[in-house]
Amino acid sequence: MTQAPYEIDVMISAKSIAARIEDLAKIIESEFKDTDKLVVVGLLRGSFVFIADLVRELDLPVEVDFLEASSYGDGMESSREVRILKDIRGQIEGRDVLVVEDIVDTGHTLHQVMEVLGTRHPAKIKSIALLDKPARREVDMKADYTGFEIPDEFVVGYGIDYAQRNRNLPFIGKVRFT
Ligand code: IMP
Ligand code: MG
Repeated sequence: MTQAPYEIDVMISAKSIAARIEDLAKIIESEFKDTDKLVVVGLLRGSFVFIADLVRELDLPVEVDFLEASSYGDGMESSREVRILKDIRGQIEGRDVLVVEDIVDTGHTLHQVMEVLGTRHPAKIKSIALLDKPARREVDMKADYTGFEIPDEFVVGYGIDYAQRNRNLPFIGKVRFT
């Protein structure tokens, strides 16, 4: 895919992300402290770095599963229709579930995923998003836990892509067209 030239400016450093994840892990531990049946469900692909760092900070017995929902194509436009492209492998009936998202933007993806998983009768279901862009919200949706609230900028890194690139950056950066 041809892309306009762009540069990436650091918005949230790797160090700040690590510090925030330590805090979030403590909150998640207290939320799920009495359970031995927690399933952490990462939304592919953007959450793969976040979920990897988050679960390693959790002092809890956890299982990890993944779900892929369609959202953006290869560009920057949000599509409203959310489809499940890859479902989780495990059953969640009677289980405690933590859904892990990279970024809540219009809110459609997380809203739909929570609705679908909610119909499967989990004992408890919560959501966590590393980033939240409240300015772009189209549905009334907020993750139960959020790492950072950010302004309306297109961001990449730490698992998050622009046209499938830049997921490997260790920080969150904002895309600036040059
Ligand atoms: P929503 O359904 O509009 O809330 O979109 C959520 C999904 O859109 C996220 O999981 C990301 O994959 C993608 N997304 C939203 N904002 C950005 C961004 O700034 N950069 C890259 N992907 C984004
Ligand atoms: Mg995503």
